[in-house]
Amino acid sequence: MTYSIVELIRTKRDGGSLPPDAVRWIISEYTADRIPDYQLSALLMAIVFNGMTQDELDPWTDAMLHSGEVLELSDVAMPLVGKHSTGGVGDKISIPLVPIVASCGVAVPMISGRGLGHTGGTLDKLESIRGFTTAIHPSEFAAQLNDIGAVMAGQTETLVPADRRIYALRDATGTVPSIPLISSSIMSKKLAEDLDGLLLDVKVGSGAFMKTIEDATTLAKTMVAIGASHGTSVTAILTDMSQPLGRAVGNANEIAEAVEILRGRGPEDVRELTIRFAAEMLVLAGLSDMDAATARAVDAVESGAALEVFLRLTERQGGDPAVVEDTSLLPKATEEHVLVAPRSGVVSRCDAYQIGIASVRLGAGRAKKENHIDPAVGFLIEAKIGDEIERGDPLVRIAYNDEQKCSAALEALSQAWEIGEEPARVGPLILGGIQ
Ligand code: URA
Repeated sequence: MTYSIVELIRTKRDGGSLPPDAVRWIISEYTADRIPDYQLSALLMAIVFNGMTQDELDPWTDAMLHSGEVLELSDVAMPLVGKHSTGGVGDKISIPLVPIVASCGVAVPMISGRGLGHTGGTLDKLESIRGFTTAIHPSEFAAQLNDIGAVMAGQTETLVPADRRIYALRDATGTVPSIPLISSSIMSKKLAEDLDGLLLDVKVGSGAFMKTIEDATTLAKTMVAIGASHGTSVTAILTDMSQPLGRAVGNANEIAEAVEILRGRGPEDVRELTIRFAAEMLVLAGLSDMDAATARAVDAVESGAALEVFLRLTERQGGDPAVVEDTSLLPKATEEHVLVAPRSGVVSRCDAYQIGIASVRLGAGRAKKENHIDPAVGFLIEAKIGDEIERGDPLVRIAYNDEQKCSAALEALSQAWEIGEEPARVGPLILGGIQ
């Protein structure tokens, strides 16, 4: 069946909905270069304004998912559960989480992204371990999952090519902020991982894509519904991203903090989310109920089993396990500057967005996809919401290699903290869950 793309654009522009076959046709024709960018852009803008029904969203996601190769993991002897975070600042949770879950007998084929804009990326962090490669070919996934229980890799050219092209077009046409388009983009990539279950960390707050709980809830419900239509169990947890997670923001320093979690130490917020997510993933795998799953996740850390998996994973992916054993071997910046509190009081804001912007300016993140990052630079946050501080106390330690970049970062950092008189209300880290 062929359609008129102009007719389909008009239908969407006027608030109508597209038949499932027309939706599939659009994705396959665009991927085959038979619909030009300008026409797809017009359609995408109509979707931004008028949304998509579930009956449009399911075939749209399914057509994207099947626009290229999908992982074939039927040879993996364990249940397969994935995780995706909508992105934040200081979000290193996947790094301790994946080995914890794998050490409990659930395979995790993790395909992650790089840092972009104010948010960091798991791949950049892992690559600060000397030799670590995230370029794992899809044909190697099953063997590594059977041997170690986990793969931590980047997107390949062959998985979901339609998303790569449509995302680039959305980026250039102001059509990224659309809940159905974001949901189908994320879910097509995750469903291509051949999963039995998927945990979504939907972040809310200044440092997240979704600034309000209402938008985050809609995004979470939309993704859970797509999962249900594809027969994949999905749990979404809404978590706070108004301030960074943990103390480290950067790359090498976030690996050091992640290893601390695997050693049973590290910041309480990172530990709380890691254990909760690990338990949710074990429940998704059908291994146990929440209480037993939490106890298993805690035991995987305390026994050293999870750290052992991370060492084996590092070695398997070309990284130097000595760096994981001794994180002082990670790249280090040569200089340090300490931003101090201008007054005494209680921290009422420690803004994830400003700190994320500062990390891009420092060289720890990238404004554009093609920018290079410096793995050694980053922040150690010394004062978070609710902390009582004296004038002159450190707010943040900046590890830097370039004076100008440090000054540019300081401009954003100087707007990140607010210090008040009253005790600050520290909100919950976990804001809700959707299944
Ligand atoms: N992340 C994605 O993978 N896709 C989007 O559309 C937005 C964020």
